[in-house]
Amino acid sequence: MSATSSANGQELLKMVGIHKYFGRVHALRGVNFSVNRGEVVGLCGDNGAGKSTLIKVASGYHMADAGQIFFEGREVKLRSPKDARALGIETVYQEQALCPHLSIARNIFMGREPTTVLGLLDQSRMNEESMEALASMGLKLRSPHALVSALSGGQRQGVAIARAIHFRAKLVILDEPTIALSVKEVREVLDFVRHLKDQGVAAVFITHTLHHVFSVADRIVVLAHGCNLVDIRTKDTTVDELSDIIARGTLGDAAPTHKPESEAAAAALAQQATCEEDTEAEQEI
Ligand SMILES: Nc1ncnc2c1ncn2[C@@H]1O[C@H](COP(=O)(O)OP(=O)(O)OP(=O)(O)O)[C@@H](O)[C@H]1O
Ligand SMILES: [Mg+2]
Repeated sequence: MSATSSANGQELLKMVGIHKYFGRVHALRGVNFSVNRGEVVGLCGDNGAGKSTLIKVASGYHMADAGQIFFEGREVKLRSPKDARALGIETVYQEQALCPHLSIARNIFMGREPTTVLGLLDQSRMNEESMEALASMGLKLRSPHALVSALSGGQRQGVAIARAIHFRAKLVILDEPTIALSVKEVREVLDFVRHLKDQGVAAVFITHTLHHVFSVADRIVVLAHGCNLVDIRTKDTTVDELSDIIARGTLGDAAPTHKPESEAAAAALAQQATCEEDTEAEQEI
């Protein structure tokens, strides 16, 4: 979030001071995170950094223990994934994205099936609209009746993303969408993310593979040990610089040399110092 973006109403999601505990594990320690309209934000960090937990809070799957969430400028309480969906936040998880035993059409309309005047499932509308949604993303699948279990990992991601676009999501969150995919499939998924951006849909893209995030993200946010570590425009950093920082888990001497462009970035850097102190204090207990 930058001062300008909030001033002109471009800010879509803003999470402030988010804390989340799992028993004694302090998974998020006052994280700030924001996404502007139509912006693709890469969310990176080492295993256990808190990436999935943060997006589960944004998608209503977990409730934060402290902190505030704003969507389109209004404070919101996300008590369930249904609340998040109602606002236009769709999350695509790697495994649970789709039901493999159901058809493509049924997956696209899952939980939002259209019915006929007689109250029956409107199968022909689902078939037609699901093929249209897929074709609009350049994804040509043979039949709406095909079972999702017959699709490749990349195609499954495509179906999940098409579903989000069809239901007019404003923000699509993708948790490691390229994990375990072939090179060709990774390329397809990255194209789907670009397609989201072309449609004006914002996206959060979580990955461990920095090359993937560099090719699609406008901005990259790095978490470490449940704290903000970096918030930087992609064009202002490099894969090498960020991988060094992620591997170390601190900014150290390799801190990006540019001045933080946004208030959030500056706040994140300032907060990092406090966060590190807290982490050390907690480790001593
Ligand atoms: N449901 C849960 N119950 C208990 N602890 C959890 C739960 N979910 C996450 N954690 C813990 O919270 C911390 C952050 O986990 P999270 O899954 O958010 O990390 P991540 O950045 O997504 O890591 P990865 O890259 O491995 O997916 C970890 O210490 C993890 O063990
Ligand atoms: Mg994760």
